[in-house]
Amino acid sequence: MSNKVVIGAQWGDEGKAKITDLLAQNADLIIRYQGGCNAGHTVVAHGKTFKFHLIPSGILYNGKTCLIGNGTVILPEYFEQEIEGLKKENIDISGLKVSPLATITMPWHTEVDGYSEDNASKGKIGTTKKGIGPTYTDKMARIALKIGDLYSPEALNEKLDVILPLKNKQLKELYGLKTYMKEEVLELCRKYAKIFEPYVCFEWQEMLQNFKREGKKVLFEGAQGVMLDVDFGTYPFVTSSNPVGGGAATGSGYGPRMIDEVIGVAKAYVTRVGEGPFVTELTDETGDKIREIGHEFGVTTGRPRRCGWFDAVTMKYACLVGGLTSIALTKIDVFDNFEEIKVCTAYKDIRDGKIYTSYPTDVYIHKYLTPVYETHKGWGEDITGVRKYEDLPANARKYLERLEEILETPISIVSVGPDREQTIFK
Ligand code: IMP
Repeated sequence: MSNKVVIGAQWGDEGKAKITDLLAQNADLIIRYQGGCNAGHTVVAHGKTFKFHLIPSGILYNGKTCLIGNGTVILPEYFEQEIEGLKKENIDISGLKVSPLATITMPWHTEVDGYSEDNASKGKIGTTKKGIGPTYTDKMARIALKIGDLYSPEALNEKLDVILPLKNKQLKELYGLKTYMKEEVLELCRKYAKIFEPYVCFEWQEMLQNFKREGKKVLFEGAQGVMLDVDFGTYPFVTSSNPVGGGAATGSGYGPRMIDEVIGVAKAYVTRVGEGPFVTELTDETGDKIREIGHEFGVTTGRPRRCGWFDAVTMKYACLVGGLTSIALTKIDVFDNFEEIKVCTAYKDIRDGKIYTSYPTDVYIHKYLTPVYETHKGWGEDITGVRKYEDLPANARKYLERLEEILETPISIVSVGPDREQTIFK
């Protein structure tokens, strides 16, 4: 196995966790490189369902090293809860490491996220309210605390003297929210230091160097999806990090030459949670049918997901900007009882009839775009037990081969159910 990155190729929730879990079997080191506990990764293993937000799901295998990388943002209380959950299930977490360069989500970040969402009359993003945007904002503004700061009295003291006057002014004057005293924050930091102490990895450089020298296999675990990327997604209706393949290099401590493959996970249809454009969205009974059969409800927020047909226009874009070398197509079995399956191959502007076959990055015109579909015949049989590509019904193979043709990217994995075994490697 070469070093692989697994990313979401749509708007998140594509089934990355299952693919990561499968590939983690052959990896020595698994690195989560961006996002925070906004992610919700479900893995079915040992006859149980595990839900991960921050910790790489590779932790379910013994003997793997799982690093929460520098590119992530960590809400300490959530991290602690997740650890407790794993301990309760007797999962060995001795391989878990946290980069001292990861950024801490402080209480004011979640408070500002909640306030901004609840009070937005216009431009509501529909965030997970986990403080993601405000934490990354402060990271970029150079006024954030890193995990390593918790163990450096100098860093904490000097940084808080800069951060708190600024933050308190913002919290009070901009949001009318509670302000923070230095001693109170220091107390909180002492608590956080205890939470992270068993996991913080100050020797991360030596560790990464050793893995590299020994040719050990690395799996980079992305969260969210390309269309939620802060640079390439449906901005401003995006998350605040880089879920594209390139994010693995900036968020892990390894450079781009360490990456051999980028696998983009996509569903055979599209879902989205939160606000923002979604050209192939179905608000009719077909959308309801997909939601019901596909169990499309958020892991982190429980929100019903918006559902629609496969959008090859955004997917082609995701193949390019995400840097995909292949695709893992999931949930294709959801269509087992569909007579017809549609694929959007272009957008048509209702104002002037203009056809877009490339993704238009001005999302403010998306409300004028309607999908141009091609229709495929369904296969009308249960494929959840199929394990070999040749055993798939002819119509399913035809559909997959047509997607490969449009996307100019091979489909390397087809998932036909939630279990590890329900997977076809092509
Ligand atoms: P935030 O990441 O909480 O700031 O939310 C920004 C947008 O990204 C919202 O539309 C969220 O619903 C979406 N989002 C964030 N994380 C995920 C995820 O893991 N899956 C799907 N959507 C997500």
